[in-house]
Amino acid sequence: MSDGKIRMTVNGRRIAKPVEGRYRLLDFLREELHLTGTKEGCGAGECGTCSVFVDGKLVKSCLMPTAKAEGAEIETVEGLAVAGELTALQKAFHKTGASQCGYCIPGMVMAATSALRENPFADIEEIKERLGGNICRCTGYTKIFEAVELARDIMNGKRPATALDSEGAGDSYIGNNVRRLDAPSKVSGALKYAGDMTMPGMLHMQVLRSPHPHARIVSIDTSEAEAMEGVACVITHKDVPGKDGFGVFVHDQPIMARDKVRYVGEAVAAVSAETQEIARKALARIKVDYEELPAVFDPEEAMGEGAAPVHDYAENNIVKHIPVRKGDVEQGFAEADLVVENTYTTQQVEHAYLEPEAGLAHVDHDGVVTVISPSQNITHHRHMLSTIIDKPISKVRFIMSPVGGGFGGKEDMIYQGMLALSAMKSGRPVRLVFTREESIISTAKRHPARITYRMGLKKDGRITAVSFRMISDGGAYGLSTEGVMRKAAILSLGPYDIANARIDTYGVYTNNTPSGAFRTFGAMQAQFATESHLDICAEKLGLDPFEIRRRNMMKPGSLTHTQQRLERAAIGEVLDTAEAFCRWEKGAPTSRGAVRKDLGGPDTRQPCTLGARFRKPAEAEDKQEVA
Ligand code: FES
Repeated sequence: MSDGKIRMTVNGRRIAKPVEGRYRLLDFLREELHLTGTKEGCGAGECGTCSVFVDGKLVKSCLMPTAKAEGAEIETVEGLAVAGELTALQKAFHKTGASQCGYCIPGMVMAATSALRENPFADIEEIKERLGGNICRCTGYTKIFEAVELARDIMNGKRPATALDSEGAGDSYIGNNVRRLDAPSKVSGALKYAGDMTMPGMLHMQVLRSPHPHARIVSIDTSEAEAMEGVACVITHKDVPGKDGFGVFVHDQPIMARDKVRYVGEAVAAVSAETQEIARKALARIKVDYEELPAVFDPEEAMGEGAAPVHDYAENNIVKHIPVRKGDVEQGFAEADLVVENTYTTQQVEHAYLEPEAGLAHVDHDGVVTVISPSQNITHHRHMLSTIIDKPISKVRFIMSPVGGGFGGKEDMIYQGMLALSAMKSGRPVRLVFTREESIISTAKRHPARITYRMGLKKDGRITAVSFRMISDGGAYGLSTEGVMRKAAILSLGPYDIANARIDTYGVYTNNTPSGAFRTFGAMQAQFATESHLDICAEKLGLDPFEIRRRNMMKPGSLTHTQQRLERAAIGEVLDTAEAFCRWEKGAPTSRGAVRKDLGGPDTRQPCTLGARFRKPAEAEDKQEVA
């Protein structure tokens, strides 16, 4: 490196390039060589998405300074295929459906390649062990392991190469394996996620975030940052030309904090500069004067007398209350032989999709503001942005880039507005890629909930009444809270036919990180309470847990608490299948709830018949259910 250039061989090509001292090998490959098949998931050596070979050894490139690769032979996922022909392993990933969002897949392919290079006869346990440094958040790993075993057997001649061929969908795609069209681009690293995209003249954005959970913004001085060489623009709430506010139901969140900050990590200002490094340095030159305010972190306290108001409009800090009533609850409790009350709590959960948030915005020659991002809700985002930037909808375009895992967490327009404003102000394309820490600190989580469940039952286990009160921490902004509360209320009673019910779900503002959509949209919290409560009631009544459920399950003709008359109900068959699957021994449960015939785990030999049931004609299903 005497001439300031680093030399290495990358995918068989000799490279000699100047390198920035701070660059990790990952940055060098992505930013200098545009080999974006190597992904950044965590930046901390935990997820394996950045795996490459260095002198034949599998290495996490986020942990390796580029200077250490001087003279090395580097092989990335782009270098595996020969003359465009995917390797047997890459084809096997395609064949078994091992790639879903695909963001982890280049790293997985590299780790699997390493496993089979080191031991071409590796058994499944060794394969699992060798892939242990790689995380996937979508597939559940089974298909990935299947792919590695398939490739191993083909490479060893134990299975014919034709095992990689398509089976064909026959005359129907339903019930048949259909290959994903985008899988080859995922297993080869060719697919571009938002953070992989570049445009000529592109600027890099960094965001200044609040260190306080609740504080009034007295002043923001961006002049020093704006004067720095390499800084193209700095934006704050003052740059919003239209009606500022976004959210899935209530538009209560400004693009950047306006008047006050409401949670640690909230965006306050954003810098766009020639390099990420300059943008980062410029953040340190922005002066924000805060006046700290009392904060509230517990939703029940937030609803109480004298709690600090998070939003002035929201009485008792309530984002949304969903009340549902059915029958006469007091009468139902009066008829009960046993009344059981318990409180169940669930925690905040981070989505931890492997692709951190990223986006690229530009203004095209017709003045159309275009935002490319892995948004799970682009039509809604487009409409909101049009109002925020005060442009007609025809002048706003959203392009959904491949989503490297979302699970509901990419439904919120947390950063797309900042990108659009910066592109408009600078007149240049602007890209933002979150760090993992930034993703965790600033984006929505699953709602933590506290559920007070009161149930009245007869001695035979029939439920006479339920009172269900769920208080959820919505965090600082509304996002999907209203929808989550609705769904939790709708699913609060599970698949049980209960004549008398009083349901209240509350989403409440606090100064915590906002809560939002996350797989099941509130159903998980409600079901956890319902099913836990039924187990406890069964134990108190000396009933088998399956039996108490059978005595209360919905049937065709049942009326839900949301006034839906059911034409069909599968719960009986679900219970039969679950009971057979786990080899349950009938009888009263122990306090541990485990009454299996043996300790050998679920009987996976039992065929699951539920899929077959749904292929029967509806008439036959109903007869079977009634019987
Ligand atoms: Fe390198 Fe996660 S291990 S990005």
